[in-house]
Amino acid sequence: MSDTNTHGRARLDQLPEWHALGKHREELGEVRLRELFDQDPQRADRYSLQVGDLHLDYSKHLVTDETLRLLRELAASSGVAELRDAMFRGERINVTEDRAVLHTALRAPRSAVIQVDGHDVVPAVHAVLSKMSVFTDRIRSGEWTGHTGKRITNIVNIGIGGSDLGPAMAYEVLRPYADRGLTLRFVSNVDGADLHEAVRDLDPAETLFIIASKTFTTIETITNATSARNWLLTGLNADTSAVAKHFVALSTNAEKVTEFGIDPANMFEFWDWVGGRYSFDSAIGLSLMLAIGPDHFREMLAGFHLVDEHFRYAPPEENVPLLLGLLGVWYGGFHDAQSHAVLPYSHYLSRFTAYLQQLDMESNGKSVDRQGNPVTWQTGPVVWGTPGTNGQHAYYQLLHQGTKVIPADFIGFANPIGELGPLAGQHDLLMANFFAQTQALAFGKTPEEVAAEGVPAELVPHKTFRGNHPTTTILATELSPSVLGQLIALYEHKVFVQGAVWNIDSFDQWGVELGKVLAKRIEPALSEGATIPGLDGSTEALVRRYRELRGR
Ligand code: F6P
Repeated sequence: MSDTNTHGRARLDQLPEWHALGKHREELGEVRLRELFDQDPQRADRYSLQVGDLHLDYSKHLVTDETLRLLRELAASSGVAELRDAMFRGERINVTEDRAVLHTALRAPRSAVIQVDGHDVVPAVHAVLSKMSVFTDRIRSGEWTGHTGKRITNIVNIGIGGSDLGPAMAYEVLRPYADRGLTLRFVSNVDGADLHEAVRDLDPAETLFIIASKTFTTIETITNATSARNWLLTGLNADTSAVAKHFVALSTNAEKVTEFGIDPANMFEFWDWVGGRYSFDSAIGLSLMLAIGPDHFREMLAGFHLVDEHFRYAPPEENVPLLLGLLGVWYGGFHDAQSHAVLPYSHYLSRFTAYLQQLDMESNGKSVDRQGNPVTWQTGPVVWGTPGTNGQHAYYQLLHQGTKVIPADFIGFANPIGELGPLAGQHDLLMANFFAQTQALAFGKTPEEVAAEGVPAELVPHKTFRGNHPTTTILATELSPSVLGQLIALYEHKVFVQGAVWNIDSFDQWGVELGKVLAKRIEPALSEGATIPGLDGSTEALVRRYRELRGR
């Protein structure tokens, strides 16, 4: 195993800064948040940062000034800033796929110049955005009609992973900004039930399918797209000429799009330097743009860009994505935290954590470093969570009194959005829960406090709250398109920081390949009873059982 990485730096576990953190952790021992706040009444102010509209309070973390200093030193010695700058410059930092990583170019202003292989990509980005805007206006105004001349009122996005999770999440978030006259649905699962339920009450004459696939080879998407085309042509009793008015594609692969039968004029392009899970603000966002309109979409891109600039230029002490990334390194590396909860206190963010699961876990779920050596440190956590108050009545018990270290992000807003009318009055109650939970998690309730309430001695341990559970609070004025862009960029760059410190390639996803290959081999055994040479005993028995149960 090599002692250095490609930059000639020592492996993470050989760095003096890593060892210094280990020693510091031992010396800190069981640091108590109550004591930290008692010692420093200014802690909440000192441990708060602002980026754009996002106020970030990290005072309820198990850290001291010394912890933060050592973490920043670790970031410096592991080359986070150098890798960040290389990413923004368009260098091929996705080493195993030999690709640039330039999702930041998707939200760069027209005036920016960003080169990939000596070629400025910004004009092409803006050309596609303009094409998306023109198309959006034509659909929303009714100028673009379906094959029979009817106005398009239903949009069905067919895609999976990065070609689904971003727009599906953002459509939920920005519903209050959406044209309520349009029905948007998202189909991802190869289970036929997904497409069936999405189209069963739709009129094909009024329906537009957006086939979203970077590669245009993903089996789930191509299967669903083919079924959708059959549904449309049957429903319209039409020949394939109808496809042109009802199908558009979002892809990097013009050849496959044409092969499928979609006119390349109806294709919205993006590029191989946009990773699937980082593609939401490329053409992959077309369904969202159709819903909220080009202006709101551009506001969202501006929110992304604001955080890009912050990540690129803010000093380490004020750099919010750097801080969030390093806190995760601290808990994974020195507190044995295995998971990370993201708990939004906004119903509109109900799919946000699902989106982050791909962003984080597909990026940093790796166990070899960029040189292919096994890592001996923890990498990406399991990311999970659902909207806050629902979680309170389900799994928060474990957060408060379980045995695991689970750092959590609480995301909330000062103002409700949308036309809630009298329901807006519920917002204070929602946010009271938000603040109460982070308070209880941090400070708990001691046995003495419980006993002082007259609780019988035998029940005291059950009613005691250890506290000391670390949380980040992210608070913004309201959930606007720009704030959504800011939030996503914040997490993108947090994930980047962690990948850089752990020295893993956050931009490949080889771990999804094996299952795809095996599924292709197994499918003929299920449908036709084909024999698969070398199949293991368990899978073979299950395939046999499946066929019996299906009466084959
Ligand atoms: O299988 C994983 C993956 O490659 C993701 O990274 C990607 O977002 C998803 O599949 C969909 O890929 P595509 O956009 O090429 O259909």
